[in-house]
Amino acid sequence: MRSAADVDLFQSRLADDAAATEATLAALLADAAVAGEIVRPPRLVAAMRHAVLGGGKRLRPFLMIETARLFGVENAGVLRAAAGLELLHCYSLVHDDLPAMDDDDLRRGQPTVHKAFDEATAILAGDALLTLAFDATAAESHDDPAVRAELAVKLARAAGLGGMCGGQMLDLAAEATKSPLSHADIARLQAMKTGALILYAVEAGAILGGASQPARAGLTVYGRAIGEAFQIADDILDAEGDEAALGKRAGKDADRNKATFVSAMGMAGARARLADLVREAETALDALGPQTPTGVLRAAARFIAERKS
Ligand code: IPE
Ligand code: IPE
Ligand code: MG
Ligand code: MG
Ligand code: MG
Repeated sequence: MRSAADVDLFQSRLADDAAATEATLAALLADAAVAGEIVRPPRLVAAMRHAVLGGGKRLRPFLMIETARLFGVENAGVLRAAAGLELLHCYSLVHDDLPAMDDDDLRRGQPTVHKAFDEATAILAGDALLTLAFDATAAESHDDPAVRAELAVKLARAAGLGGMCGGQMLDLAAEATKSPLSHADIARLQAMKTGALILYAVEAGAILGGASQPARAGLTVYGRAIGEAFQIADDILDAEGDEAALGKRAGKDADRNKATFVSAMGMAGARARLADLVREAETALDALGPQTPTGVLRAAARFIAERKS
């Protein structure tokens, strides 16, 4: 069921969760070295802050925080894990924008890190964000060390060889191929490069929330559907979106011969698939039962499909 109250609640939770995430991120990116570190070079800290603070929708932290909240769990540990995921996402953006990859000069309305600093600093800022992501996830996210280990392993698999990095490899390889990828190939590529981290956000929220196995299964279906929807919307916005609203360049995918949902299915096909995915995501939440307050996650699925930035 759709209600205006769900949309209002979604908007206020998105804003509140972003503010809480921002404060945790700022603390993680403090100047002072923490136990086990020697010194934090100011230029590297500045580049990392440029990449992370003051921008972005913070959608992945929101999904993790709100999924845990479905089960009544809301604490500083969840925020640490959510901030860890956002750090990992920001690293992926810094490297995605490098000249050797998508070669972009604008991100979140600001110069990309290699433009504001230099390429070597951007590479190192990405590396240090990736490691800080695991620090935040594994150090203090939950009292039980087995839960912390489970999160770290899941994050590694979502982000690495068979996940985001693997998807980025396939994305770059597809630019150079002469024969267009099939729809199934593109769906797999996107499930890896973008879907995996979004699915992890939801799964980690379910783990931190102590969800039952049936609830976790329903949330996994939801997470997969919104992950695919997220990248379809990104591809549509690249083709049709407004650079000022996006805070990043538009029209780059066609220029670079990227394998996207729009190139594979056409604009009408991509929009139809997007609508199917939102329905699939909402249906998956039905499995959690009427006693679970899923209105915010339902509104999130619709936001992901309809967003303008
Ligand atoms: C952009 O992600 C990169 C993709 C995975 C498509 P977002 O659209 O979530 O970017 P921010 O974090 O809001 O800037
Ligand atoms: C990037 O996809 C996905 C990752 C960063 C892993 P895109 O290349 O489409 O993202 P944008 O459009 O530059 O944000
Ligand atoms: Mg890319
Ligand atoms: Mg890109
Ligand atoms: Mg894109």
